[in-house]
Amino acid sequence: MTALDRQSGADPFRAICEQTERHRRQHGCWAYPFGDGPALGTLARAVGAARILELGTALGYTACWLAYGSPQARVDTVERDPEHIMLAKRNIIDAGLSGRVTVHAGSFDEILPSLEAGYDLAFFDGYAPTPGDVVAIRALLRPRGVLIAANLDLEGGSAVRAALADEARWRTAPVLEDGRTTISVAI
Ligand SMILES: C[S@@+](CC[C@H](N)C(=O)[O-])C[C@H]1O[C@@H](n2cnc3c(N)ncnc32)[C@H](O)[C@@H]1O
Repeated sequence: MTALDRQSGADPFRAICEQTERHRRQHGCWAYPFGDGPALGTLARAVGAARILELGTALGYTACWLAYGSPQARVDTVERDPEHIMLAKRNIIDAGLSGRVTVHAGSFDEILPSLEAGYDLAFFDGYAPTPGDVVAIRALLRPRGVLIAANLDLEGGSAVRAALADEARWRTAPVLEDGRTTISVAI
């Protein structure tokens, strides 16, 4: 959530964001809600995304933003924690988005090979991605598809930055969350 949205109350999924913060403290997990839901929604709309892949659902905050941002999109979101999956499914139903958002239960390594390629937009928010995650996601994106990669300040992030700086494969800019999140276009 941006400072502007915190002030104006313009985030329609603020309750899920706040629930995620409370849940993390009780559960002792690392379910940090992404800091700029409105930016994700705006990017999904700008891309005109029809198919969106998310890695790291937590309680569904960003899956809802991605679906809300691009009203024609179907969102596949991947999560391995059973409690997060249960809460996310409930939140997605309550948001009226269950017809367009599918929560896939399992690890990224298990689920990604089962998905059909051709995604317009991918959002990685499952702690820090690995260079292997970047390769797997690129294989699922269409040409000129967009990858938003969060948490690049965490351990391992610099290897991913290096992978995303390979201009034979990506054009990348560190433009969200003070550069901790990059936006890349697949070449
Ligand atoms: C930072 S939270 C996601 C936050 C969410 N995008 C939001 O903004 O509310 C990271 C989530 O990724 C999940 N996760 C981490 N590694 C994973 C993996 N290898 N496979 C599946 N889920 C994973 C965690 O269980 C956690 O719920």
